[in-house]
Amino acid sequence: EKGGWPTFMKKEISEEPEAVGKTLIGRIVDGAVHLPELESFDGLLTDIDRIVVLACGTAAYASLVGKYAIESWARIPVDVELSHEFHYRDPVIGERTLVVSVSQSGETMDTLLAVQYAKKHGARTLSICNTQGATIPRESDAVLYTHAGPEVAVASTKAFVAQITALYLLGLHLATIRGTLDAPAVSALVEELQNLPAKLDQVVETSGERIADFARWMGDVQSVLFLGRHAGYPIALEGALKLKELAYIHAEGFAAGELKHGPIALIEPGQLVIVIVPSPRDPNSLHPKVISNIQEIRARGARVIAVAEIGDVEVLPFADEVIRIPLAGPLFEPLLAVVPLHVFAMELATAKGLDVDQPRNLAKSVTVE
Ligand code: BG6
Repeated sequence: EKGGWPTFMKKEISEEPEAVGKTLIGRIVDGAVHLPELESFDGLLTDIDRIVVLACGTAAYASLVGKYAIESWARIPVDVELSHEFHYRDPVIGERTLVVSVSQSGETMDTLLAVQYAKKHGARTLSICNTQGATIPRESDAVLYTHAGPEVAVASTKAFVAQITALYLLGLHLATIRGTLDAPAVSALVEELQNLPAKLDQVVETSGERIADFARWMGDVQSVLFLGRHAGYPIALEGALKLKELAYIHAEGFAAGELKHGPIALIEPGQLVIVIVPSPRDPNSLHPKVISNIQEIRARGARVIAVAEIGDVEVLPFADEVIRIPLAGPLFEPLLAVVPLHVFAMELATAKGLDVDQPRNLAKSVTVE
């Protein structure tokens, strides 16, 4: 039920804060992560030497964000694989591989086949899924449900942030049992997770109207590029995917560092580029590098919309528009930065008079190969 909202998409974007909050419920006890769902793995989680994450579409970009966090916290190599590529190329997996599938519906055939292949080749399988009792969780050794609630709009939004939340819980759990983070470090990160819903609320409230405004004047835009770095890179990919899916506009996401290795050739006067700017507060921040990327593309005539944290004044002289997000640690910013990109795709599609809930040629869950 739309409950008074004009579209499911608008409703579901407004539910992104709640999707994170509900996915955390019952899983944090005294500043530590509590995941009884993983008990059946016993000693396996200390023995694994590698994680392979299988997913398609938006779920694959959520998985890529998860990779940054899990590797950093639990010091285990994580490979994110598109499910449909995985089992057709004789992948290296075995008993010490944990295979994590990420799927909102739990019915995506490409992901199901990849999970079945992994099982057959000795890997243990964990499903991160939003749909109780779906096929993929039933075929997996364990399941960690996201609690985003039913997602009706075809393009995934609230499930995306819930998937990242579940992957972060997994990362913190692994870091705890493998001893790569001590209790105070885990508890500080857990607190960041718990602070996310309120910060997301703030983004949902502040980004809506402004983005709707400039979506109206750029209704005829032909192509949009998205740039991000570190965990902002998969967010750039997600922003571009949403724009293709909803507004049928050519869009591409790039790692900002890759700009000079090719994509900068695409920049000509008037090219719209959306840049996710990392926080300048972190001593190892990539902020100066991303600011210099913005200068390079502006010098070639690009129009730049920056998504930057509140208080980042250094970005101001270089961007045509700045969308603000609240302060958060480097691995938590992406969850905040994605909301304006979801809103942007929805508003551009709406300005073009398109059906944002049922984009052409797409299905909510693709149960064929
Ligand atoms: C696509 C949907 O077909 O499947 C996307 O249109 C979705 O929105 C992708 O991200 C993966 O779906 P699921 O259910 O496996 O997360």
